[in-house]
Amino acid sequence: MSTSSRKIAVVTGASSGIGAVYADRLAKRGYDLVLVARRAERLQALAAAITSAHGVRVETLAADLETDAGLASVEQVLANNPAVSLLVNNAGLARLSPVGGAAVADSLSQIALNITALTRLTHAALPGMKARNDGLIINIASVLGLHTLPFSAVYSGTKAFVLAFSRGLQQELADTGVKVQVVLPAATATEVWDQSGVPLSALDPATVMTTDAMVDAALAGLDQGEQLTWPSVADAETIARYEAARLALFSATQTGQAAARLSPL
Ligand SMILES: NC(=O)c1ccc[n+]([C@@H]2O[C@H](COP(=O)([O-])OP(=O)(O)OC[C@H]3O[C@@H](n4cnc5c(N)ncnc54)[C@H](OP(=O)(O)O)[C@@H]3O)[C@@H](O)[C@H]2O)c1
Repeated sequence: MSTSSRKIAVVTGASSGIGAVYADRLAKRGYDLVLVARRAERLQALAAAITSAHGVRVETLAADLETDAGLASVEQVLANNPAVSLLVNNAGLARLSPVGGAAVADSLSQIALNITALTRLTHAALPGMKARNDGLIINIASVLGLHTLPFSAVYSGTKAFVLAFSRGLQQELADTGVKVQVVLPAATATEVWDQSGVPLSALDPATVMTTDAMVDAALAGLDQGEQLTWPSVADAETIARYEAARLALFSATQTGQAAARLSPL
């Protein structure tokens, strides 16, 4: 795409919210950018602002990542441009309502964007990154990937996938120069809430991060070598205890026997 010698970051969902801030911060770090989303005008306005602020090359790619054609256009860039060294799998949507009262199309939309698109784009990017032994994939999950509320069954399921998928990739790529960071934001003040079914105004403001703060914390975690970043969790010990409990529970499953506490009555 460009004659620049800079590395390229591809950011999905860059037309607003978290993705737009990633685009700005990655440009500041010297990346050229490919910005992906459906709203072309928004992408173009952001591209102009970033180019003028940071002097990097920015391309926009209007694509609907819920469609085969949209995905193929981004896959083509990821697979064929060797300058692509960073993929931010950020595009996502939330439809927060009980499954019993929701349209199946809303559930399938979340699965298509939050799971299928993220998986396909990762498949497209990985072979080149592995061949170059250089690359970074940042996957945006959510604290709701670990915790489920009565209205988040599908959204939480999609983000649990992002978390588990990222953990698997981290292990399979451990001996390579390709890194994967998974980020688990709590509530962040973006447009995602507008169409989620839960307005931002319904949340306790004390629980909501700004988008700038969330992305800067996630990038600080990356700089500190974190593979899994909880931008809003102050106490690192809580994270360590959770990881230890998770591993201990898995280990406790490896008995080959039914637990005595579950003996038939
Ligand atoms: N905000 C939070 O509280 C929060 C918390 C945890 C995790 N997250 C996650 O953070 C990520 C970013 O969300 P956000 O909060 O920044 O929300 P946002 O402002 O609504 O951004 C979502 C982005 O995804 C793009 N997008 C939506 N549907 C798309 C499609 N079919 N094809 C291509 N792009 C599409 C949107 O652009 P177009 O509409 O122009 O296509 C937009 O750029 C999501 O994965 C979300 O699940 C958010």
